[in-house]
Amino acid sequence: MTTLTASPLAPLLDRLFRNADALSPLAIPAVAALSAEERERMLRSKTEYLDLYTRLKDAPLPVSRETGRLLYLLARSAKASCVVEFGTSFGISTLHLAAALRDNGGGRLITTEFEPSKVARARDNFEVAGLSDLIEIRVGDALQTLSQELPSNIDLLLLDGAKSLYPEILALVEAQLRPGALIIADNADDSPAYLARVRAPNGGYLSTPFTSDVELSIRVS
Ligand SMILES: C[S@@+](CC[C@H](N)C(=O)[O-])C[C@H]1O[C@@H](n2cnc3c(N)ncnc32)[C@H](O)[C@@H]1O
Repeated sequence: MTTLTASPLAPLLDRLFRNADALSPLAIPAVAALSAEERERMLRSKTEYLDLYTRLKDAPLPVSRETGRLLYLLARSAKASCVVEFGTSFGISTLHLAAALRDNGGGRLITTEFEPSKVARARDNFEVAGLSDLIEIRVGDALQTLSQELPSNIDLLLLDGAKSLYPEILALVEAQLRPGALIIADNADDSPAYLARVRAPNGGYLSTPFTSDVELSIRVS
């Protein structure tokens, strides 16, 4: 048995994923009010992401069930004890990663989210799962919250916040990634600059698209 597949986490994740399935972001009035072009522009903007994600504050926007399980598997097989996450939302991906830390014998997970109502929901979920002791939530824009006091020797980085910021967030965390550290970027196709960075020959990373949604990379030096 694992923390991921046992109670209280398994039924909690099942409920959170089912709730997420039931709520299409496009059904949220503040999002429906945008044209497809406006949504696309805001998704790619380095300045309008706060507006876009504030409109999406009631949407969990989680990784897929498969990606969640992948996160657990990768963190377990890497024997991760130090994890950083960009983009907490309701904490669904965080729960998978924290479960892996628990089953690895403990560790520290730093996650960051600027929307206060999402932080409150995530905190509740971490409490229900019994994983709060492993998780530090940094409240605010990741460009600030991840710019200081990062642990050295980070084993795993999950990028799942504003796609346009993936290169900037990687640059903030880069010096603290241990050699061989895993970087998982969800919906990386929405960040061409990030893909160019991690796929650059001799750029310090080895990288591959892993599923249709995920770019999986390791820090090689
Ligand atoms: C796709 S959701 C994250 C989903 C979460 N990883 C999960 O699987 O449950 C992206 C989240 O990142 C947050 N976010 C976006 N840009 C951010 C930034 N610059 N700093 C902090 N949080 C940010 C959004 O408010 C949103 O809740």
